[in-house]
Formats: sequence, C-alpha cells, structure tokens
Amino acid sequence: MSVADIAPEESASRPAGAACSHAREMRASPKGHYSRLFAKPVAPISSNEESKLIELGNSMCYEVEREGTLTPRIGYTYFGQFLGHDLTHDTTPLAGPYAEPEKTSNFRTAAFDLDHVYGGGPTGSPYLYEGEEGGETFKVGATTPTGYRRDLPIGHGRVLIGDLQDTRNLDNLLLRQLHVLFLKFHNEAIRQLQTNPAMESVTHSLGAGTLFERARRLVCWHYQWIIRHDYLPRVLHNDVWHFQAHRSARKPGSGFSVPIEFSLAAFRFGHSMVRNAYRLNCRTKRVLIEELMALGQKAEPIADDYLVEWGTFFDGLPTSGPQASSAFIDTSVSCAMHGLSPGTIRLANKLESIDPSNLPVRTLVRGARAQLPSGQEAAEALVAQGRIKSKDRLTSSQLRSDTCNRSGSVLSKNGLEQNTPLFYYILKEAELKGEGLTLGPAGSHIVSEVVQSALEADPDGYLAVMGPKWELPEWRFPNGSLRQVNSLIGIVRLVGDEKLLPECEAHWRRFQFPPGLV
Ligand code: HEM
Repeated sequence: MSVADIAPEESASRPAGAACSHAREMRASPKGHYSRLFAKPVAPISSNEESKLIELGNSMCYEVEREGTLTPRIGYTYFGQFLGHDLTHDTTPLAGPYAEPEKTSNFRTAAFDLDHVYGGGPTGSPYLYEGEEGGETFKVGATTPTGYRRDLPIGHGRVLIGDLQDTRNLDNLLLRQLHVLFLKFHNEAIRQLQTNPAMESVTHSLGAGTLFERARRLVCWHYQWIIRHDYLPRVLHNDVWHFQAHRSARKPGSGFSVPIEFSLAAFRFGHSMVRNAYRLNCRTKRVLIEELMALGQKAEPIADDYLVEWGTFFDGLPTSGPQASSAFIDTSVSCAMHGLSPGTIRLANKLESIDPSNLPVRTLVRGARAQLPSGQEAAEALVAQGRIKSKDRLTSSQLRSDTCNRSGSVLSKNGLEQNTPLFYYILKEAELKGEGLTLGPAGSHIVSEVVQSALEADPDGYLAVMGPKWELPEWRFPNGSLRQVNSLIGIVRLVGDEKLLPECEAHWRRFQFPPGLV
C-alpha cells in the first residue's frame, strides 16, 4: 500500500462546522480499552450544571505569562505530549455518547512502544520507510531552503506520519520536530547494530527478529528508560519519586489499560506547561504558540528559520540564547489554549465539533460527562491506599484561594470547592504543594502509577526483558566517542541535531570562546 492508495479523507469535503459530532472517523482499529483507578463519583456533576464548568474553565487563564525558571525545561513539555500520544487516543466526541471506560476504545496500545511513530511498520505503513527489506529505515524530510534533514517526509500533499489516522504529533512545530528525533534514532540504531561492535552487549537480548525489529526494540527500550529516568523525576513530586522504590511492580503481560483519571484529567496537566511563545533560534526569537500549531499542521517542509535549537529546550547542548523553562504547573493555562483552531481540535477526531474551542473547558466538561471522580474522592482513595497522607489533601479554603488567577473564586461561587473537578484539583495541588514546579502528591501518584504500570506490564519492554538495572549499551557518537544514550539530549547528540544554524553557531562560539581566549 502506498500513500496514494489511501482514500482521501472523508471529512475533507465536509464544510467546517457541518461535522456530525457523533460520528467517529477512525478507520484504524482500536488497540484496547480504558479502565478506572477509582470508583465512580458519588455526586456526579449533571448536564444542567455544566455552565459552572464552562465558567471555571474560562477563568483558568493568565494574562501575563507565568514562566518558570525552575520548572522543567520546555523540551519536557513536548516530550510529555509525545509520550501521552503514545499511550492514549480516545476519539469519543465531546458530545458523547460516553461508554463505560472498559467499553471505550483506545486507539493506541497501552504501552510505550512508539506505535504512533512506527505506524503499521514496513508492511502496514510502507510510505514511512525506505531501505532493504528487513532493515528498513524511516524516510526523513528536508527543511527549506537549505535541506537540513530534520522534518517529516511529505508526499501526495500530506505529512507522512504514523498510521496517517492519528496525526496528533503534528499538533505543533515543536512536537513535530521531536517526532523526527525518534525517526533518526531508529535509523541510527539500524546503522549501529550493523557497525558498532559495542552493540554486541545487547544484540543477544534483542531477540531473533529482523534487523528492523531489533532496532525498533532497542529504540523503544531507550525511550522507556528515558521516560523513567529523565522525564518522571522532573514532573513528579519528590515524595512520590522516592515512593517508587517501595512500590510493588506489575507482572509483565498482566494486562494493563489506561485509566481515564489519567487520560481525561491528570496527564493533561501538561496543558498548563505550554507557554505563550517560544524562542526557536537566533533568527526566530519569539513565535506565538498559535503560529507553531498552524505551522506544525501544514503539509509543507519546515522553513530553516523555524528549526528548533535543542539547546534552548534542554540543558547541556549548544545554544545561541538562554535555556527556557515551561510555564508553571498551575491552574493557569495559556490564553492560546482557550481558543484552539478547528485544525487543532480535529487532530484527535476528524469529525469532532469545534465548539467549544477552549481546551480547559473541553477537559472539564469531558471529565464530568465521562463521570470522573472528584479531586476529593481521588485524594481520599489515595489516603486509604496509604499513598498520600491526610494532610496532603487540599482543603476547601486552599481550593478557594485566588493565586494566579480568579479561578478559586469562580470555583467557590459555583459551589465546587468540595466536589472539585479532578483536572482542576490536580493543577491546584501542583500550584500549592508542588510550588508550580512539579505535580502535587495525588497528581504525581496517578501519573506515576500509570506510567510505571505501562512500563512494567509490557512483556516486550526493557523492564520485563532486561530488568530495572539494565546497563545501556554504548553508542558511537558523531564525534567518535562511545557513550550511553540515557537522556533526550543523548538522542539529540547521537543523531547530530544539536547543530545550530550557521550564524547561531557563530554566536554560540563567540560566547564559548571570547576573543583572546581561543
Ligand atoms: C500546544 C500544546 C497542546 C495542545 C494544542 C493540546 C491539545 C489537545 C487537544 C485538542 C486535546 C483533545 C481535547 C478534548 O477534546 O478533550 C488534547 C488531549 C490531551 N492532551 Fe493535549 N495539547 C497540548 C499539549 C499537551 C501536553 C504538553 C500534554 C501532557 C504533558 C498533553 C496531554 C494530553 C492528553 C493526555 C490528552 C488526552 C488524549 C487522549 O486520551 O486521547 N497535551 N490535547
């Protein structure tokens, strides 16, 4: 099957706004279903009370950007979005109908297996690949005008990504470029499994599959290792991170499905990390997130001027400017997220109604319609399980407080301070108990439990096959050194994408070696 064989989008001819919100356009088959972590709410918010949630969502906005300096670097915002898209894709239209989680399809596998990158593999998604059979590499697109190999391939007027059904990684230009890093990581794995003798330490454990299959497994194992060691410690509350050591692990193959408390509330905490604007490189110093969304979705090669300087997004890489950190993890969500474009909303479900375009409102209303427990019920259950302490629970007066915006007053005015939507509770908790730098105790437990369970339950994952103390193999880096790839910056360096645009590089070098010191 080539990309030309894929039927044109059913929705392409449908006028905007005329979409039937009950229709589901996914032609990919579901990979599993959802579950619940906690019991259903005792007093669910009814549909005639939804106006309260709309008012609350509207108030979760900041006028002046609350950018952190101690929050995770901005690259981790988008790595969070990337791994979230790997684990969960719920195409239930906002209007419903909402089935029980066990009957709601998840269009992604509940494992960190990069199925949103590999699509159906060389057989199911041949348009993504090139090279010899059994040792296929990803096609990589080029930027314009210079032709840096740092974009997704484009063919027949569309960006070639995953299974072509789930195109959420085109949400914005930052995520699109992060996705490319993984294509190049795979290509490097194909090369090094054949040429790097240091890979012998891992070759045997990768199994007897084709070179492609072994490379994919190696890439997934590193990705899983990075989620556990590079990502989680940055977003989880310290106490919870330490709790990990005492947690009893799930058995591999024990069957795991994503709980809706994670997909519909807790892991959406990343929406509050999104900033209004980003510096991409020394040419493009301030781009609004709206523009990055529009550009990410375009079926056109990325312009050189919009190449991400990864050194601004992570520590430890060359950069022509300062590193930048995410917005605070709190109840304020960038104004840009309060009015998403139809294109952005429909990345998740091509026939989705575009109203409301306000993301916090969508999240709150969706959570109520899917009957999520309240924040208080979730916290109470975690206390009963001995995961958090009674004093960790937020009080009504804490929930009512107006800290970064008016949302506390709005919550209280609507009588929601004792039956608080889980999404709001998690963000308020991050604000008050994590100081806006990490999640709070309840949010951390939900995120950690789900991410760790997905890692542990995967029978093909590195935890099951190699164990938690797996010693990563040594890769040959472009500068000739042999080192492990144990972080996102390791991937950037391995694939050579830490290189800066020529004048940005000159700027960085001047900064590194002031005249007279060279
Ligand atoms: C510019 C950045 C982002 C945009 C525009 C965006 C947009 C969206 C939209 C439109 C939805 C579907 C909303 C609905 O209909 O209920 C969604 C869902 C979601 N988002 Fe984001 N998002 C962004 C960043 C993030 C980040 C940084 C994270 C996590 C770290 C995240 C996690 C999620 C999750 C877990 C879902 C639910 C996915 C599913 O189960 O199908 N998002 N996002």
